[in-house]
Amino acid sequence: MKLQNDLLLRAAKGEKVERTPVWLMRQAGRILPEYRAVRESVSGFIELAQTPELAAEVTIQPVDLLGVDAAIIFSDILVIPEAMGLPYEMVEKRGPWFPNTVSSEEDLKKLRIADGANDLSYVIKAIEITKKNLNGRVPLIGFAGAPWTIFAYMIEGSGSKTFSKARAMLYKEPAFSHRLLQMITDSTINYLKAQIEAGADLIQIFDSWAGILGPDQYEEFSLRYISQICDAIQEVPKTVFAKGAFFAREAMGKLNCETIGLDWNMGIAESRKLIGPNKTLQGNLDPAALYGSPEQIQIATQKMMGEFRGSRHIANLGHGVYPDIDPEMVKVFIQTVKDFR
Ligand code: CP3
Repeated sequence: MKLQNDLLLRAAKGEKVERTPVWLMRQAGRILPEYRAVRESVSGFIELAQTPELAAEVTIQPVDLLGVDAAIIFSDILVIPEAMGLPYEMVEKRGPWFPNTVSSEEDLKKLRIADGANDLSYVIKAIEITKKNLNGRVPLIGFAGAPWTIFAYMIEGSGSKTFSKARAMLYKEPAFSHRLLQMITDSTINYLKAQIEAGADLIQIFDSWAGILGPDQYEEFSLRYISQICDAIQEVPKTVFAKGAFFAREAMGKLNCETIGLDWNMGIAESRKLIGPNKTLQGNLDPAALYGSPEQIQIATQKMMGEFRGSRHIANLGHGVYPDIDPEMVKVFIQTVKDFR
């Protein structure tokens, strides 16, 4: 099906666009009362993510309600550990929790490489329904976590300020760490290929915990695997968002992907210099800017747009939108991007 609005895809590929496309990380979620209503009709986040009709519904909500230029499939990065044999729970107000973690060769033997289409058939079904119901209005973004970020949760068992157990593993058991990272990478490639087959028009890799590694470890334990994923996926444009990896910008410029996501700590002009002219940059307004007044949001957004002007850009925040942001303020951000010339 031909897309009516393909701004995102053209911007990703560096083709000419009439205006800069805009979407928000975490746009399908708690900022919308309409999401919370659907969420309350089921037992929890996981049931919602595993019910394809409902996952498709909340995926499309921000397209209707906010006017974004892309939908992102409603799911989570932690479906990969689950598909590999390590299930998670989403604890209300606290976040993800794994009843079992991985710490030995024995644990590794209990895991398998996920195959995507079967092990994650509920996500694949949700993508198919979403594509049908979007009816070509905007592109659909598929996604996965970067292997390092997934590894961090599988070792740690939950979120953490330091992920010290996961980082300790890199020092104590590097060979074991590489084996697990390779299993996650193979699973992720299978999963992303299945998403693309089902209709995902672009894929994004989230390396949310990139910033807790030093540059050498980041190269060895994260970038190497992201690079494998980028090389394996040729079908659609790819975006790599590595939060906090300011030290890896030059290296990211050499990845086999079209777009690099910037967080709000990364200067725009400096990032462009380090990454080079041949990538689209995505971002990077501080999500906290949306707590300001409409006038303040307009000023901050125009400043950001001005700094990106004249080079390949997809507008977004520098990380996911915070759940208590007023959707009206999200609309001010989106409209300001759309009006910018
Ligand atoms: O972006 C979207 O709108 C699509 C859906 C999406 C979710 N999670 C839904 C979700 C995406 C792309 C993610 C990615 C994700 N999940 C990341 C990478 C992006 C980032 O923020 O750095 C990470 C680290 C996770 C893991 C995760 N999932 C955490 C730490 C939490 C708890 C904290 C929180 O935000 O609540 C989740 C839960 C989660 N994932 C929710 C949603 C809508 C909230 C659960 C609920 O509705 O109760």
